[in-house]
Amino acid sequence: MCGIVGYVGSQSALDVVMAGLKRLEYRGYDSAGVAVLADGGLAGAKKAGKLVNLEKALVERPLLAGGTGIGHTRWATHGGPTDGNAHPHLDNAGRVAVVHNGIIENFACLRAELAERGHELVSETDTEVVAHLLAEEFSACADLAEAMRLVCRRLEGAFTLVAVHADEPDVVVGARRNSPLVVGVGEGEAFLASDVAAFIAHTRSAIELGQDQVVELRRDGVTVTGFDGGPGDARSYHVDWDVSAAEKGGYDYFMLKEIAEQPKAVADTLLGRIDPAGSLTLDEVRIPAAALREVEKVVVVACGTAFHAGLIAKYAIEHWTRVPCEVELASEFRYRDPILDARTLVIAISQSGETMDTLMALRHAREQGAKVLAVCNTNGSTIPRESDAVLYTHAGPEVAVASTKAFLTQLVACYLVALYLGQVRGTKWGDEIRAVVRDLADISGAVERVLETMEPVRELARSLADKNTVLFLGRHVGYPVALEGALKLKELAYMHAEGFAAGELKHGPIALIEQDVPVVVVVPSPRGRSVLHDKIVSNIQEIRARGARTIVIAEEGDEAVVPYADHLIRVPATPTLLQPLVATVPLQVFACELATARGNEVDQPRNLAKSVTVE
Ligand code: F6R
Repeated sequence: MCGIVGYVGSQSALDVVMAGLKRLEYRGYDSAGVAVLADGGLAGAKKAGKLVNLEKALVERPLLAGGTGIGHTRWATHGGPTDGNAHPHLDNAGRVAVVHNGIIENFACLRAELAERGHELVSETDTEVVAHLLAEEFSACADLAEAMRLVCRRLEGAFTLVAVHADEPDVVVGARRNSPLVVGVGEGEAFLASDVAAFIAHTRSAIELGQDQVVELRRDGVTVTGFDGGPGDARSYHVDWDVSAAEKGGYDYFMLKEIAEQPKAVADTLLGRIDPAGSLTLDEVRIPAAALREVEKVVVVACGTAFHAGLIAKYAIEHWTRVPCEVELASEFRYRDPILDARTLVIAISQSGETMDTLMALRHAREQGAKVLAVCNTNGSTIPRESDAVLYTHAGPEVAVASTKAFLTQLVACYLVALYLGQVRGTKWGDEIRAVVRDLADISGAVERVLETMEPVRELARSLADKNTVLFLGRHVGYPVALEGALKLKELAYMHAEGFAAGELKHGPIALIEQDVPVVVVVPSPRGRSVLHDKIVSNIQEIRARGARTIVIAEEGDEAVVPYADHLIRVPATPTLLQPLVATVPLQVFACELATARGNEVDQPRNLAKSVTVE
């Protein structure tokens, strides 16, 4: 939600900032803007719409080159996506420029105060008040970092701020509260960004900032302090992926690349977590085994696709550990006064590690004494920082707004957590764990095989481009897969898409079935739990009898579905609990191709942003 970049060094700040914004555009694409310090003053440009509009404006009216600058790509909250509301925002004298991610909740009263003191605010944003407040404080102390500390102490809400002042031309100052900001440290240069992708082409040496921190960047160093001026809370780390991971690598879209990366992402997430004897070694889960043995309830909190991973995790956790597991939308969690105590293990799943709803849910859980384990893809982000422990998914950077490889790796991580709980609590025998671990190790190859057979799925998707509705059905772990398939289609193809538990259909939604409406059905394995399989085969017959066009995802060798499938998508046989790892992949490909066929922007669907840092 909004991408921010700041730079100080000997390169052209405009070039560095624009290249950084390009990598962060997935965070918001309602407008974009830059400001650079040059010739003793500030120069800038901002434009509504995608970054390309700003690029064109800069070609028509180039800015002077300077080595200090900031930039922003916006997902609008306060004020529509217009040129005037685009960041950076300036004070009345045009000496301070500020960019912002988040929401300043007390902006209305700050704005009124400023107006009384004669400031003229020209935008509808909450951000503009910060530029004016910084200008006032700077005029008294002539120190931008100190001005930022003083201003931050007056702000309520969640924010990342990055600012420059024409009177301190070699300084960029940033601040963060509940919103992402990382520092990149180069040779004689330094960077600030919402995400390391913005500066990974220049340095892999990064600093994560704690809560309520102000950072001052100069060419020769970085200083971190708390909002109160006290010692800083910061941790240096090395980014373990390089610039190629943040590029499309020959694919038309990041989403296609990320779908194709899934076999590796799945294998990488297992790496180093299984010892040669086949037992799990999750040393990074710093919650002692004794505490895990005491756990009486598991609660999973997450949003969107990560929530669907949580729904699937519930089946594995309860089946393998016999510990009750609840799964809750993070945005609802703390408002219903959930029952939590020291014997509750909360699992917070988040690709970005910055989702505000999930962060607030985990804070609430910790306040109630529960232990929180994060399942996260982004090193050093806020959610793992604030959790008792973290199990990182090793998906690499996910740039496309629609989550794909992160989902599969979240599933793998959740299976590992469930098995680990079974191991430490003794509800699973060693050989049972080893058998599941072997099945998990085979999944990477199975996903590879699914990817090799996707051409008919793409063809089918293209043939449905003029449809208005697609329904998705599943049972057991196939139900969250159906929800995920529907979510992907909604966000990418802008179609009415809904996922249902197949058994629930006859309690109402079956009324939606009419002639030729496409219904995707995720069929569980006929082996083992064949009751489940038989029931869904009946459900397919029920909808087909009412005119539905059935698109059946079934495992290789399942012949029972053949007579009822208008289109049959085969996936390799897996144990039922692991089937989501293969059954989700065709649905990702389906949504991506349908979006393309409908002329939609695959990587940047309308109204969305990758990282949702407001509640
Ligand atoms: C859907 C999607 C979103 C995210 C959700 C949570 O494709 O990407 O639904 O899954 O916003 O994001 P994280 O995992 O970053 O907390």
